[in-house]
Amino acid sequence: MKTDRIKWNQRYDAEGMYLGQRPSPFLSREIKRILRLAPGKRALDIACGEGRNSIFLAQQGFLVTALDISEVGLDKAATWAGQEGLQIDFQQADLEGYRITERFDLIVNFNFLLRDLIPEELRALSPGGLLIIDTIMESPHLSAAHNPAYLLQAGELRRICEELEGEILFYEELPGDETPTARVLFRKSA
Ligand SMILES: C[S@@+](CC[C@H](N)C(=O)[O-])C[C@H]1O[C@@H](n2cnc3c(N)ncnc32)[C@H](O)[C@@H]1O
Repeated sequence: MKTDRIKWNQRYDAEGMYLGQRPSPFLSREIKRILRLAPGKRALDIACGEGRNSIFLAQQGFLVTALDISEVGLDKAATWAGQEGLQIDFQQADLEGYRITERFDLIVNFNFLLRDLIPEELRALSPGGLLIIDTIMESPHLSAAHNPAYLLQAGELRRICEELEGEILFYEELPGDETPTARVLFRKSA
């Protein structure tokens, strides 16, 4: 959506990295299991922002494609990847109504929620492929103002995943955290 693009371009048009340079903690925590279970090396980073998770995955040997609506974020991500000597396929895309045309062994979706995209992500996974979703949930502890449409409800991510063909390998909700979060590691049926 055009308004999202403008909003995120403004956020990223500043010194430093809006969400920092470290990968998402859930991704670093699970990386050994991901490397062991992913059926191949093709990874897709959904709404990659300034690229912290794309870069981490490329450093772990994945061939990464990364999508985002913000060209400012993508430019920063590409510059950073270049400095690290990493080749990552960064592409500008509006993910609303988006169809993923290639196959991936791993899809990561951090801090971004488009409910209709989740079945599409599963469809784009190769058999036995892994899907990670980790995003903000509704909670009385949520401090900053958020569009309620982009917040997961308690139990919602689990219900969504139970409808998908595959297995939940890990699930947790942290409604009391500073940033209340729900997260899942899911494996598509082989
Ligand atoms: C909170 S940031 C998360 C960035 C990244 N996943 C991370 O955790 O570092 C949300 C991202 O979603 C992107 N975004 C928002 N709406 C979008 C849309 N319709 N299509 C593609 N990307 C979108 C923004 O540009 C922004 O980079």
